[in-house]
Amino acid sequence: MKPEATGSGTIAARLDLQDPLFWRAGAVSVTLVMIVVLAFLSVDSMRVISVGGRNVPNYDVINYRIGYQFDWSRKMDVPVIGGAQPLFGKTVTEAEATALMDKGKLVIQSRNCMNCHTIFGNGAYYGPDLTKSWLDPAWSQIWMPMTGKATREDAMVEFLMHPDKYPTWTRQMPNLNISEDEARATVAYLKWLSAIDTNGFPANFGKANTSR
Ligand code: HEC
Repeated sequence: MKPEATGSGTIAARLDLQDPLFWRAGAVSVTLVMIVVLAFLSVDSMRVISVGGRNVPNYDVINYRIGYQFDWSRKMDVPVIGGAQPLFGKTVTEAEATALMDKGKLVIQSRNCMNCHTIFGNGAYYGPDLTKSWLDPAWSQIWMPMTGKATREDAMVEFLMHPDKYPTWTRQMPNLNISEDEARATVAYLKWLSAIDTNGFPANFGKANTSR
């Protein structure tokens, strides 16, 4: 203890590091400032991640072509929403698209796809990440010829209904008794998912040997 610091009225006394009041004031003010910062960040994240927000398109994006291109200014791959390309050849309203998403989500939850797959990197690592699965070149290059289907979405439906019939990898996806309606809704969900701007995740998707 320095005797001169215990005197009152000087700046040195008010900043006395031995005084519990100094630390209490510090803790209270830092907590208050951080609450404001947290509230701001939460509101800002909701703005970015909610449907229709900056990074997440509306569900009726499934009516459009979705591309994936390297953006030099951001130095990452970003989804590019192009001209009309209705899923299963049928343009849907936002309400119809929402119903498909609800159903697709239920299929994914009820079959516990996350026990083997990841979405946005969350889940298990037995199967490939599904975030950009819609854009996987394997649909046109491997599964369309394999299933004999003329479109990517039809090949996906066929694969989801009978994954055990079309293995392309050392690990196989089991048949999960997915009906055709359920498979179509899941494909709609996967198409919308691929249009989300995930800040480049997963990196190098679709380039040689990275999605597997
Ligand atoms: C028991 C583990 C397991 C479960 C559960 C599972 N999958 Fe798979 N899935 C796999 C494996 C392994 C592959 C790779 C199969 C292959 O290439 O032959 C795969 C492949 C896929 C693919 C192709 C991905 C790509 O881009 O190459 C899709 C889409 C897919 N699964 C969707 C689903 C959905 C949707 C569910 C839930 C309804 C699900 N999976 C449940 C293991 C699983």
